[in-house]
Amino acid sequence: MSGVFITGTDTGVGKTFVTLHLAEKFRRDGMDVGVMKPISTGPDKDNDAVYLKKKLKLDDPLELINPIRLKHPLAPYPAAIIQNEKLKIKKIFSAYKELSKRHQIVIVEGIGGVAVPITKTYCVADLIHDMDLPAVVVARAGLGTINHTLLTIGALIDSQVEVIGIIMNGFTGKDLSEKTNAKVIEELSGVPVLEKLKWAKPSS
Ligand SMILES: Nc1ncnc2c1ncn2[C@@H]1O[C@H](COP(=O)(O)OP(=O)(O)O)[C@@H](O)[C@H]1O
Ligand SMILES: [Mg+2]
Repeated sequence: MSGVFITGTDTGVGKTFVTLHLAEKFRRDGMDVGVMKPISTGPDKDNDAVYLKKKLKLDDPLELINPIRLKHPLAPYPAAIIQNEKLKIKKIFSAYKELSKRHQIVIVEGIGGVAVPITKTYCVADLIHDMDLPAVVVARAGLGTINHTLLTIGALIDSQVEVIGIIMNGFTGKDLSEKTNAKVIEELSGVPVLEKLKWAKPSS
């Protein structure tokens, strides 16, 4: 595997957290890891690409890690409309190609969930398909996650994306459904839960 696309059931579900976690894990296994955030929206300061580049001390220019930057904190389609910009999706493919030459594996963090529109007729699931990458779905640990995770996997399969696994994030030990969700999702989707991550206490 030379690349993987980290998508999720929603925004704020832990895609950046998991991207960093996997990058550090692959590094510990001796691999040279690159990351990518194809499209960021919102203020440049401390966006996901800047954060990951800093945390992982990556030399790659921000223009490669994050080829499309939009000013407003919205889905790419409305963000591009507001700033009257036509998105050049091809920039994503060429940046990914270059990063793949530089690194053994490139972890690509998605934008929100799979149905998020990039243009009127092109969503995140289409991008994953066209980048020819397998997907990992980051899902919440607690109540409500069965619905969101099954819908996400269904949409990826409809877009002919290979789903290699699910990472469940934010276990608290306080929600009864945390005990049964992973097993039910595996059983109903046929996709394995690769990891269950606890809600980490903030480091002081
Ligand atoms: N397992 C976790 N433990 C502690 N904090 C987490 C965990 N997962 C996510 N967070 C925090 O929750 C917030 C949202 O996570 P983030 O990875 O940015 O989500 P996404 O990239 O899907 O929008 C961030 O502040 C992140 O640090
Ligand atoms: Mg993120």
